[in-house]
Amino acid sequence: MSNLTIAPNGLKFNRKTVKDIDVAGKRVILRVDYNVPTTKDGKIADDSRIRASLPTIQYLLSQNAKIIICSHFGRPNGKVVESMRLNFVAVRLSQILNRPVTALKECIGPEVEKAVFAMHEGDIIMLENLRFHPEEEANDPDFARSLAKLGEVYVNDAFGASHRAHSSITGIADYLPAVAGFLMEKELNYIGYLLDNPGHPFVVVMGGAKVSDKIGVIENILDKVETLLIGGGMAANFLKAQGLNVGASNVEAEKLGYCREMLKKAQEKGRRFVLPTDVVAAEKIAAGAACKVVAVKDIPDGWVIADIGPETIQLFVKEIQVARTIFWNGPMGVFEIEAFSKGTTLVAKALAESQAVTVVGGGSTAEVVEEMNLSSKMTHVSTGGGASLELLEGVRLPGVAVLLSKGYNWPGY
Ligand code: 3PG
Repeated sequence: MSNLTIAPNGLKFNRKTVKDIDVAGKRVILRVDYNVPTTKDGKIADDSRIRASLPTIQYLLSQNAKIIICSHFGRPNGKVVESMRLNFVAVRLSQILNRPVTALKECIGPEVEKAVFAMHEGDIIMLENLRFHPEEEANDPDFARSLAKLGEVYVNDAFGASHRAHSSITGIADYLPAVAGFLMEKELNYIGYLLDNPGHPFVVVMGGAKVSDKIGVIENILDKVETLLIGGGMAANFLKAQGLNVGASNVEAEKLGYCREMLKKAQEKGRRFVLPTDVVAAEKIAAGAACKVVAVKDIPDGWVIADIGPETIQLFVKEIQVARTIFWNGPMGVFEIEAFSKGTTLVAKALAESQAVTVVGGGSTAEVVEEMNLSSKMTHVSTGGGASLELLEGVRLPGVAVLLSKGYNWPGY
């Protein structure tokens, strides 16, 4: 891993941060993304998203702010879902901070206002799951106003949700001065570095099940990279586009044209588009299912691609070893099943051992890296799945667009 100890040379983050505005003693609404992965019995499986918000919380505490934390969790579709209450996250945050965090049962309304206006400096309140109200996702202005009423300053540290134009992400900025938290700033700087000024060779490792999630990214970064390594279920689409038989592997038929186009574009631009040469093929995706390593031209009818094969792993590792910048998003196989986890594990290890700037996309890739205890060996592990992909696609994130620009002063601030 290269540490990038100096500020990354990326797209200049030109928005105000929490340091550019007076928050001393003020009621600060802090939007975070505590949509944490959970176990089957509802426990927190990985608290990285909570830990990633600590620098902003610690800073606000050092300024004696009154911190009103808000987040969504899951997709309750505008209704109260008991298992999606945020209390369990408040408990974990309180343990980490070693100070009380009061979880409320609502996120707007008279009871919430009463609690918030009685806060003392250094108090922390966590509002209830914002998505219990359909108005949140509808970006309803009245809901945004009710939320804004609770605070004097709005800080967005929810990078993982900044691609959503929801009331607590965009609408609220119509009513309060809106600035970025430190996590938001860090995420935009690192991903900006990939887009703007990466060290070369720049190698992108893509995997995961669906090619449709990644086409926009491939299209946008093709000009900036030397090499694309394609694994995971999505590789089946590119193999099929080249006329190979991929057995019963999932293929998005309507995307095959795109895949062909990408392969052609890569060739025209002199980019290396590296597909698996061998795979672990399985009779079905299940623990204990029959499986074998085969060359990509020999995938048996009715079998599915479950992982990249040993020759491909070697090929990918070699590319990773010579890279100066690496971005990785998406597992190389069905990581949850041990027999199909080798590709992902060895790619993760190669990234951890590399001297390059290594940026890992959020979601399942971040979970794999965390599970393997390798997060500290990466330059940056993003907390945003969809958000980091959209940013790499070149999309302007609505949650970033509404933050105050460096030169602009909110009236009175
Ligand atoms: C995520 O986990 O990617 C974010 O919290 C966004 O969640 P969403 O896809 O439900 O909007």
